[in-house]
Amino acid sequence: MRVTIFSTKPYDRHFLDRGWQAGLDLQYCEARLSLETVALAEGSAAICAFVNDNLSRPVLKRLADYGVRLIALRSAGFNNVDLVAAEELGLTVARVPAYSPHAVAEHTMAIILALNRKIHRAYNRVREGNFALDGLLGFDLHGKTFGIVGTGKIGAVLARIVTGFGCRLLGHDLQQNPDCLALGMTYVDREEIFRESDILSLNCPLTPDTYHMIRSDTLPLLKPGVMLINTSRGAVIDAHAAIAGLKDGTIGSLGLDVYEEEADLFFEDLSNEMLRDDVFARLLTFPNVLITGHQAFFTHEALEAIAETTIGNIAAFRDTGRPLHAVTVDFLADKG
Ligand code: NAI
Repeated sequence: MRVTIFSTKPYDRHFLDRGWQAGLDLQYCEARLSLETVALAEGSAAICAFVNDNLSRPVLKRLADYGVRLIALRSAGFNNVDLVAAEELGLTVARVPAYSPHAVAEHTMAIILALNRKIHRAYNRVREGNFALDGLLGFDLHGKTFGIVGTGKIGAVLARIVTGFGCRLLGHDLQQNPDCLALGMTYVDREEIFRESDILSLNCPLTPDTYHMIRSDTLPLLKPGVMLINTSRGAVIDAHAAIAGLKDGTIGSLGLDVYEEEADLFFEDLSNEMLRDDVFARLLTFPNVLITGHQAFFTHEALEAIAETTIGNIAAFRDTGRPLHAVTVDFLADKG
């Protein structure tokens, strides 16, 4: 079975190469999937896509016309796929529901610790022989209220880590996670978690309900000076509102691994080019903003698990007509 794999880097190939042993004919492409690149899938029965690939109706239509029958996502999130169009076109969609919640939760904690204690700034200072501490003042995590929006697999691992710091745990979710309850988490509504959290971490999927959860009219609901962390999907925060919140102090510090318009930026070396995104450029000017380029998932264990499940999905579809982990339109109702 021939599979066109979009958005691949050498590290993806390293892990996905085991697909050859499963009898798959792997066609690696560096290109991101879009209307301009979709023709690369011609002749393949399956395509494999990542978080910033375009799987909107026009692209899916072209894939179906080429005879593609399976979309195998190398991610847990599926917000970039038009599931209704996929079903209408007879395309099966599969994903990797869990690979390493530890990878994302641990990176979330890395951002929080670095942002709070200004490690990124301290590192540069010390290398330049500047040992002054002005501007590096942090706060104890111990005793602070830590709010997690989305207490699923990643949120639950984060909750366990945070317990070790002696934080008070608040959660907000459509459903309560028994693992989080066992850690002493108190579930509250969205307004209360906004109002009470000293540190607010967004770990929910991007859905119509979570789109721009942080925006100009919800900013005033946040605890003044909150540390806001987003390692879920960029569009959960309206970046324009975040800038306004940083400027007036509503947001005390901001840590991001994702950004709404990241598709044109992340995963590429653009260091020799002009930054065209003025909103992103403005975010980079704040000393109390720390951004990583969608790397929370990027551990050895996670890439290995992603490759294994992805190959399992494709091989199962080839052998039985069904992937191991299908995503259907029913998920839209389930996940809000
Ligand atoms: P999960 O499905 O285990 O947990 C998500 C939780 O969010 C569920 O408990 C669900 O009920 C809850 N939720 C759904 N809608 C909600 C709403 N409107 N309000 C509050 N809670 C809501 O997913 P998992 O594995 O924990 O991943 C969470 C998200 O993290 C993914 O959807 C993805 O967007 C993001 N992610 C980011 C990565 C990165 O590298 N930065 C890597 C992997 C995932």
